[in-house]
Amino acid sequence: MPDTQRKILVTSALPYANGPIHLGHLVEYIQTDIWVRFQKQRGHNCTYVCADDAHGTPIMLKADQLGISAETLIAQVSQDHQRDFSGFMVGFDNYYSTHSEENKHFASLIYTRLRDNGHIAKKTITQAYDPEKEMFLPDRFVKGDCPKCGALDQYGDSCEKCGATYSPVDLKNAYSAISGAKPVEKESEHYFFKLGDFEAFLRSWVDKHVQTQMVHKLNDWFESGLQNWDISRDAPYWGFEIPDAPGKYFYVWLDAPIGYIASFKNWCDKSGIDFDEYWNKSSETELYHFIGKDIAYFHTLFWPAMLEGAGFRKPNGVFCHGFLTVDGQKMSKSRGTFIMAETYLNHLRPEYLRYYFAAKLSSGIDDIDLNLEDFRMRVNADLVNKVVNIASRCAGFIYKLFDGKLSAQLSAPELYQEAVNAGDLIADSYEKREFGRAMREIMALADKANQYIDTAEPWVLAKQEGKQQEVQDCCSMGINLFRVICTYLAPVLPQVAEDVRAFLNLETLLWDDIKQPLTNHAVNKFKPLMQRVDEDKIAALIEESKQTMEATAVIQKATTPSPLNDDPISDTVSFDDFAKVDLRVALIAKAEHVDGAKKLLRLTLDLGGESRNVFAGIKSAYSPEDLEGKLTVMVANLAPRKMKFGVSEGMVLAAGPGGEDLWILEPQQGAQPGMRIK
Ligand code: MSP
Ligand code: ZN
Repeated sequence: MPDTQRKILVTSALPYANGPIHLGHLVEYIQTDIWVRFQKQRGHNCTYVCADDAHGTPIMLKADQLGISAETLIAQVSQDHQRDFSGFMVGFDNYYSTHSEENKHFASLIYTRLRDNGHIAKKTITQAYDPEKEMFLPDRFVKGDCPKCGALDQYGDSCEKCGATYSPVDLKNAYSAISGAKPVEKESEHYFFKLGDFEAFLRSWVDKHVQTQMVHKLNDWFESGLQNWDISRDAPYWGFEIPDAPGKYFYVWLDAPIGYIASFKNWCDKSGIDFDEYWNKSSETELYHFIGKDIAYFHTLFWPAMLEGAGFRKPNGVFCHGFLTVDGQKMSKSRGTFIMAETYLNHLRPEYLRYYFAAKLSSGIDDIDLNLEDFRMRVNADLVNKVVNIASRCAGFIYKLFDGKLSAQLSAPELYQEAVNAGDLIADSYEKREFGRAMREIMALADKANQYIDTAEPWVLAKQEGKQQEVQDCCSMGINLFRVICTYLAPVLPQVAEDVRAFLNLETLLWDDIKQPLTNHAVNKFKPLMQRVDEDKIAALIEESKQTMEATAVIQKATTPSPLNDDPISDTVSFDDFAKVDLRVALIAKAEHVDGAKKLLRLTLDLGGESRNVFAGIKSAYSPEDLEGKLTVMVANLAPRKMKFGVSEGMVLAAGPGGEDLWILEPQQGAQPGMRIK
């Protein structure tokens, strides 16, 4: 145990319960997990909690669309999220949901205290209302033509064409993205949190607890004035009802951060940790939130103000990170770089990505690029060629010639000491979230260890008479350095660390253990620790990403209103590009199962004489016999693509949320195979 054991509570942002985890999310969960594992390895008492963010309009509508209850939807998504996180070795102490009794309790408590302290105001506002769906429409769910430049089909809050921001009531030809109905204006009373009450407190708090880069951004917000925050939504809404206001619900972002407290409370009840020690106003424990820069406003202004106003402790730090790009661009579904956690794990080992992110992460808020070629070369050069190589070059001799026994003394004690001393800078780098610097320091040590072995040449000595002791000594030295290096890498590579611990025949791989070198100690047989990243595996990952996206999301996107697509990064196409799409009526001449394909059917499409082979991801909704003889609509000029099961020469259009609810488009009356649609 360290001289002073810290008590630290750490959170990552709560992922929305309406979509899968992708590599962008993982920047954050991997960053947090590395930091937490580091603290634990140093002997501190560190607790890491998270939860699904399970409330709000998008989740309500998605459940609606799928014909399931919101409870069922969030239960399914929670399982998927936890499967993906554990696949990437993100080791939460507790993973919970904002839709929980604990969260309802704390949301009500915090709201009531804020109200009693005079920080809640009521005001009647006018909003867009969908008369068919009988609900108020969030800005993103009203669409229409931009009031400024006239661009068609823009969202209710801003224009993607000219960048104008406005209110949904200003849109021309407005329609509800949910029902298509023309929205009407309707009044209702809303509850507001008076953020302005906390301006003085926030100005000084922010300076001490948020990264400098972020403070500059926050100053802009201070300059433009802190507005009252609308925290209520009218029924129907999926969330918690406000205690003194029947029919009104807490806006999802009110109870979302409170979910940190709720998840921790739930963990306290299971583990016996003292809740109050962590959350009372004068708590001496530490609290840190890891978040993406897109949600900084909520975490650096609303959240500390809510805690202050309700008499809770405030975080010691809110750590923002940047966004993930792939090969220098936003993740893109069409390029296959919108990669789901699950898809990645079908092809590659999680620790490759953990290491790559670590090597790229700093304490700043700059975006992080996953360059796939750099990724492969970096992981191979650093982890396989440098680190694992140290052990592969020494372990065989120790095992074969010396029964696994390491020498009684270190042959280069000053080099060992140098490696131990480097631990201070490495620890400091981890602590400050300068993971890239930590990785560079560790790799410099690995270089030194390899140079030591290069010079000693155990493979030459082993062939010479009377050099046995030297062989044992230099290989023992190599393995001692390997142990130090793997100890430093353990927060990043948990499975490698576990395998190394087993190989070294040790109980633990804790930071302080390395002060004592391994002498006269027997190690086990060495097994290969890590394979090289294979180019083909990356290609297969991209291909599968393209295919899963095509089979489900893209089809969905064509016909569902975009806010429901939970697609944070969507590519727009210009009208000119759209005009290039050649849509034709096609007769489904033949439909067949494809051996080994889970989602695909093979269709033979007749375009009025011309026949096309097309693979369509519609097996979940149709059997071949339902399809034969039907007319449908296809994209006839899609470039042929080689897929796992053959070449696909086009794409059929279908609509629906997916699964069983997927309908191919069937043109009506008078349609003839080959006819052009426009
Ligand atoms: N539900 C909210 C957070 C509530 S916290 C009280 C939310 N969810 S999210 O699923 O959209 O994002 C979860 C976290 O992942 C956020 O911190 C977000 O910044 C991060 N990321 C999501 N996409 C990302 C990238 N492409 N790159 C890096 N981080 C990203 O926001
Ligand atoms: Zn515009």
